[in-house]
Amino acid sequence: MKATVGDLELGYIQQGQGQPVVLIHGFPLNKSMWEHQVQALAGRYRVVAVDLRGHGESRVVEAPADMDTYADDVKALLDHLDISQAVIAGFSMGGYVAFAFYRRHPGAVKALVLADTRPQPDTAEAAQGRRNTAQMVLDSQAITGVVDGTMLPRMFTEATAKNNLQLVEHARQIMYATPVPAVSADLLALAGRADSVPTLETITCPTLIVVGEEDQITPLADAELMAARIPNARLEKIPGAAHLVPMEQPAAFNQALTRFLDSLTP
Ligand code: MLT
Repeated sequence: MKATVGDLELGYIQQGQGQPVVLIHGFPLNKSMWEHQVQALAGRYRVVAVDLRGHGESRVVEAPADMDTYADDVKALLDHLDISQAVIAGFSMGGYVAFAFYRRHPGAVKALVLADTRPQPDTAEAAQGRRNTAQMVLDSQAITGVVDGTMLPRMFTEATAKNNLQLVEHARQIMYATPVPAVSADLLALAGRADSVPTLETITCPTLIVVGEEDQITPLADAELMAARIPNARLEKIPGAAHLVPMEQPAAFNQALTRFLDSLTP
């Protein structure tokens, strides 16, 4: 489905009825990373999986973006769908968007799900590396280095990479569907993202933190930091998973998610 919000066209999946749950994808992915969650939740919840601008079915925008822009796009989609309050679930970069969403639209957040994400900003060196990569992507008009060089090798555990080639290939295809301008815009947004550590203790809504036990991009220590600082947080560690937990261990991820969602409704 597509919605026109302002001058932007945003792709999204919407299924089911009940408490709205919004799923925000990571880098450099799109809404299809959530297919198992949409299936599992749609029986009891109104699930909305969004394509951030430039990704999936959303219109490609050449202008640079930041996490606040992505967050406001999600809010505009919710307004379009007449959803005043939702559970906001973000994976990795989607978690950075969720933090921005919470800062900008706290009244629209019923609860937060922070999956394989972290609150700290990039170091100066890491941010510079991302900006260099953004330029390289634009110059070469290719995202091979990002997908096969940097991201894909760290998405899954060694065991999955060896034994589940089909899953790895599926993730690769989702990544390769992301156009050059979106990958470059994401990298600049990632590099410039705000420090969300001070946000943690201001989060008053129920929060679920999920992390793959073997995640190297946003490791366990980051999840534990969030769990310690967010007043009303619950932490779920998923065994046999690295970074891309919703795709690598969908059953365990869905179990943690539904347990949390069910606890919100009396
Ligand atoms: C993501 O997986 O969405 C991001 O790449 C995480 C990051 O690089 O900080």
